[in-house]
Amino acid sequence: MLLGYEKERFLHLPTPLEYLPGISKDLGVELYIKRDDLTPLAMGGNKLRKLEYLLKDAQQSGATMLLTVGGVQTNHGRLTCAVARKYGLKGAIVSVGEYPGELSANLLLDGMMSSDVWIKRPDGVHTEDELMNSALSQVTAHYESQGEKIYFIPMGGSNEIGALGYYECAMEIASQIKGSGLEGCRLVSTVGSMGTYMGLFAGILNENLPMHLTGISILLYDDIRQHAADYYKKVREKFNLKAEASPADFDLVTDYDRGAYNNPCKEVRDAMYYMAEREAIILDPCYTGKAFAGLLEMVKSGRIKQGEKVVFLHTGGAPGINTPHHRIEIEKERERFVHQI
Ligand SMILES: Cc1ncc(COP(=O)(O)O)c(C=O)c1O
Repeated sequence: MLLGYEKERFLHLPTPLEYLPGISKDLGVELYIKRDDLTPLAMGGNKLRKLEYLLKDAQQSGATMLLTVGGVQTNHGRLTCAVARKYGLKGAIVSVGEYPGELSANLLLDGMMSSDVWIKRPDGVHTEDELMNSALSQVTAHYESQGEKIYFIPMGGSNEIGALGYYECAMEIASQIKGSGLEGCRLVSTVGSMGTYMGLFAGILNENLPMHLTGISILLYDDIRQHAADYYKKVREKFNLKAEASPADFDLVTDYDRGAYNNPCKEVRDAMYYMAEREAIILDPCYTGKAFAGLLEMVKSGRIKQGEKVVFLHTGGAPGINTPHHRIEIEKERERFVHQI
């Protein structure tokens, strides 16, 4: 029970917190990685912590299916469907975008779990929000006519209940670093729909945990600190939290989003190759690779100081390396390692 809410336990927590000796030596910082990519179910990732709480809420509401939204290659959708399948529910995803023309990466995994993915194509007339709303109404009506009781999960599972998963993760990290000399470390998280960052922020602030949180955004927000303050207000009200926060309290870095969501970038792939070569850990091109490329630049520019203790949260997403527009670039750059003899 956390802040009055129960969860369904399907993670084997805690996830490992590992030291990265090679990269630490190269960079002159003490770098650790929190392996939330090693969570079970359908190749793992951060959304599973949120889903432990969201699933319980869905079960308590008597739902027969989980319905969510996201990009065509949404990791969150894959993991929502995974949890649905494991607990005997139906799972489905609604997206606005183009079908990439092949069943690969997350779409392949969705298909393997017999989860429906509904893709609405942009029509050049309606906005993305309009298309999403009409697609959602159409899909909801379809399932309701079949007698399903839908539990709707918003983008990325980033509502108040979803944030509980990372509130708990902040407490988990605090107990892992206790007495290790890592107290006072900087925790670095990718920021997408923000539930992960917000849960960590709320946990650190309200439980007085000895960490400083930095979020590296990979989504383009109009006013990211205001968005964070509004989200925190909802979390605070829902769970009767004591601490208040204003926009200036959120350490959110917006310099490394590379201009668009999920775009292929050479610097991001180079950061991914570096992590793979040095520590044998696979990052993804949309989220963790982008955030790690940002972390590397923060060290280079002195924004992260020499000798600093840093914990990088690995939020998963590795299936994304097989998304066609990323995979094609990786193939071009790495085919030279195949030697036919
Ligand atoms: C692999 C991965 N990392 C990070 C994030 C960002 O998490 P959040 O949406 O909670 O900000 C996502 C969200 O989809 C993700 O799939």
